[in-house]
Amino acid sequence: MCGIVGYIGKKEALPILLEGLRDLEYRGYDSAGIAILNQGKIERIREVGKVDMLVKKIAGKKFPGSIGIAHTRWATHGGVTEENAHPHLAGNGKLVLAHNGIIENYRELKKEIKDQNFESETDSEILAKLIFQNYSGDLLKAVKMTLPRVRGTYGLAIMHADHPDEIVVARLGSPLVVGVGEDEYYLASDVTPILPFTKQVTFLDDGEVALINRQEFKIFNLKDEQIIKGVTQIDWDIETAQKGGFENFMLKEIFDQPTVFEDAIRGRIDMSEGTAKLGGLNMNLEEMRAIKRIILIACGTASYACLAAKYAFERLSGIPTEVDVSSEFRYRDPIVDEHTLIFAVSQSGETADTIMALREAKRKGGVVRGIVNVVGSTIARETGAGTYIHAGPELAVASTKAYTNMVAILLLYALEFGRLHHTTPATGQRILQSLLQIPEKMNEILKQSEQIKILADKYKDYNDFLFLGRGINYSVALEGSHKLKEISYIHSEAYPAGEMKHGMNALLTPDFPVLAILTQNQLYEKMKSSIEEVRARKSKTIIIASVGDEEAKELADDIVYVPKTMELLEPLLNTIPLQLFAYHTAVALGRDVDRPRNLAKSVTVE
Ligand code: G6P
Repeated sequence: MCGIVGYIGKKEALPILLEGLRDLEYRGYDSAGIAILNQGKIERIREVGKVDMLVKKIAGKKFPGSIGIAHTRWATHGGVTEENAHPHLAGNGKLVLAHNGIIENYRELKKEIKDQNFESETDSEILAKLIFQNYSGDLLKAVKMTLPRVRGTYGLAIMHADHPDEIVVARLGSPLVVGVGEDEYYLASDVTPILPFTKQVTFLDDGEVALINRQEFKIFNLKDEQIIKGVTQIDWDIETAQKGGFENFMLKEIFDQPTVFEDAIRGRIDMSEGTAKLGGLNMNLEEMRAIKRIILIACGTASYACLAAKYAFERLSGIPTEVDVSSEFRYRDPIVDEHTLIFAVSQSGETADTIMALREAKRKGGVVRGIVNVVGSTIARETGAGTYIHAGPELAVASTKAYTNMVAILLLYALEFGRLHHTTPATGQRILQSLLQIPEKMNEILKQSEQIKILADKYKDYNDFLFLGRGINYSVALEGSHKLKEISYIHSEAYPAGEMKHGMNALLTPDFPVLAILTQNQLYEKMKSSIEEVRARKSKTIIIASVGDEEAKELADDIVYVPKTMELLEPLLNTIPLQLFAYHTAVALGRDVDRPRNLAKSVTVE
């Protein structure tokens, strides 16, 4: 995710752009830049860090002009440097472009560019140069000629020094909104920067390109047909707008999951070979084959994502895989050698326990890689290699979309290692096909949010909860229980169902509801028996079952159905109803869902 802002009208563009960038900072904040077109010249200024750093750099300088574009970045291609910050120039500063998204075929496109002097390592600069190359006096035409060649996603804003009255914008997979004022237009990745000026907006749809000038804006599709669209009146206040209309960030982030999941896997799968291609591993095949053990280190939700992935690593690659909570790993004198691969997994990339643990692993000679969300964070820098999960900024303390994207990336790694050992191309392809269906299936679950809310209202006054699962769904039970604790403050435990008879059964009473994950996998029958045992103790049962499983109803006081998928992928779906259950329970109890008591989003102390 990145944020784009633009303005064309009669006012000074600079303050509007800077304020807009601040509003969009939640979409990315590793670097920012603006470009203003004045008297036939494009002036650009960029800076690494948050928007405030850019504001400091601008202080005292003049950037007059009433047409401009700006960008706040969340790095995907290329490190966090000023050169890689947007907007990008082409044609000796004649054309300038801000991009939100990923150009998948940038390598292919790069070969076609005559001017091979690149300032940055970004896919976006290639696009800027390609559009400039196709330009012969008509900016809109050049954009329309270029975009059909692009595979990937984009929200784009483009200006040309010879067109002081034009901004061309385009959208495919990354949002863009145009705000309609009087002889002026605003544009942005969401409505937040626009709302202080106008409530009249037009949302661009995928495949649309628009030419904006001071008097009007015209929308076209890529077949060059003009599209007539109405204006929408937005009644949100700014805060609601930042939350995309959701009541709080956590709910927004739960609903972000299908979209950001696509960002996680985009460009990282190789269907023909039935494998994954995660460049960040930085290991050749021989080095990969030399790995004899894998250790996943993490804290909190990230550790439950790791536990889900352990099953995939062992089943697909046959490499013994352990999960260790970072704070334990560090002090246990862990056994690590040069054949041990350690993944440090963290949303923030700043969790002190995980940083200390990865340093310990390095010291002992292990091969350490990061799986991180926040670009340029300490773990990303200290590991020097690894993979970003591309969940976009996660603001609610309780992690949701970062969890699913961590599981996705770890699964891809498991598959990549698997294909070096005993996973066949056909199995690899089946896994990848199933992964591609996950976003649609996530949406099916999200549609049941209101139904889960009713459940949460029904159960909110219990003091204790038990989450039960077996096999890979034990990891889901742990994450479900963790979520409920974090935000509702209800005591809950997670247990591997087969272990109940060795102690936990003693606690069961009618006042101890049990949330059981009973999807149709190899442990289905065993799990059913465990639920029977629970029912014999008169505990209420809420069951997460596979769509179409009528038998499960007989065991359930309440039931939530989830679409079927391959067993190794089940955490990607089965966790979502549990996130929603925790969320609705916390709301029903009047908790501060985004900022639960005693917790912090990023724990930078030991
Ligand atoms: C904190 C948060 C948790 C999070 C954990 C790990 O405890 O409250 O929600 O799962 O840190 O954070 P990380 O950023 O390393 O994934």
